[in-house]
Amino acid sequence: MAAAATPPLLLLLLLAVALPAPSHGWGVDGHLMVCQIAQGRLSGAAAAAVRDLLPSYARSNLSSLCSWADDVKFRYPWSSALHYIDTPDGLCAYSYDRDCKDEDGVKGRCVAGAINNYTSQLLTYGRSSATQYNLTQALLFLSHFIGDIHQPLHVGFTSDRGGNTIDVHWYRRKTVLHHVWDANIIQTAEDDFYGDGVADYIDTLTKTITGEWSEQVPSWEECGKNQTACPDIYASESITAACDWAYKGVDEDSTLEDAYFSSRLPVVNLRLAQGGVRLAATLNRIFG
Ligand SMILES: *[C@@H]1O[C@H](CO)[C@@H](O)[C@H](O)[C@H]1NC(C)=O
Ligand SMILES: *[C@@H]1O[C@H](CO)[C@@H](O)[C@H](O)[C@H]1NC(C)=O
Ligand SMILES: *[C@@H]1O[C@H](CO)[C@@H](O)[C@H](O)[C@H]1NC(C)=O
Ligand SMILES: *[C@@H]1O[C@H](CO)[C@@H](O)[C@H](O)[C@H]1NC(C)=O
Ligand SMILES: [Zn+2]
Repeated sequence: MAAAATPPLLLLLLLAVALPAPSHGWGVDGHLMVCQIAQGRLSGAAAAAVRDLLPSYARSNLSSLCSWADDVKFRYPWSSALHYIDTPDGLCAYSYDRDCKDEDGVKGRCVAGAINNYTSQLLTYGRSSATQYNLTQALLFLSHFIGDIHQPLHVGFTSDRGGNTIDVHWYRRKTVLHHVWDANIIQTAEDDFYGDGVADYIDTLTKTITGEWSEQVPSWEECGKNQTACPDIYASESITAACDWAYKGVDEDSTLEDAYFSSRLPVVNLRLAQGGVRLAATLNRIFG
């Protein structure tokens, strides 16, 4: 009996290893870094609101649920269009009015619209006893989407679906360009520099935010007068970085290795740090 059950199980395991997971935004580690950097920068009021809204099993740890929005994509199919923006091929520019829509053309259904949506829901926190929204979900969506909008290829070209249809090799492994930016660059950095641990990596980024980057940080946090969330700024930066760094020099079946890794890692680090700083700044504006 046991022997007969072995081959299909083995096959399943092999399949699980061989098939690239569908990718939607920074991988688990990228989102974890953004949320952990953010949680360390919250004001007292924002930290209290976050603790109040998180489910008890999260033990007041926002980063443990930063990939929740990816996990519920099948339960909430309407939410899958909210993780990205498709911009016109080759244009290297973003406009909310033109680009923020889903595949059916419904306006506002993109990651920038979702950030505005969940920000305005969270602004009702503490104002009325009976809000119509689930603010726990609003917090988890917002925290995830501010990460996603900083991944350059989440604001990519329409016909290649943000690099999802561009096959490449990451060193010797077959993948797609989108996944290189979600996860492979981060994973290789962990393997090469951080003893395979994300905690060291977060520590390094946090130190750079308060050190080398400290003079730029106030400009990252800035948002227009009276504005609570500024997703359009982040989306424009992402499509620019996608053209200047992610797509640049990459063709179908390119092999990407040391030269690509070492020149793009600084961009990934900057976007993770900006994501964390801006998630905190947004939550601080929302909760006062
Ligand atoms: C929060 O959760 C993340 C992911 O599960 C974990 O890596 C981190 O150590 C946790 N932080 C604390 C303070 O427990
Ligand atoms: C806004 O949030 C609600 C509640 O989660 C959701 O039903 C709706 O699709 C969201 N719309 C956008 C554009 O994010
Ligand atoms: C709000 O959403 C969270 C996460 O999905 C869920 O655990 C909780 O039960 C929801 N609350 C209500 C009142 O529906
Ligand atoms: C900001 O909001 C305040 C109060 O709602 C208003 O008086 C002021 O004119 C607004 N300023 C701008 C630049 O929109
Ligand atoms: Zn996502």
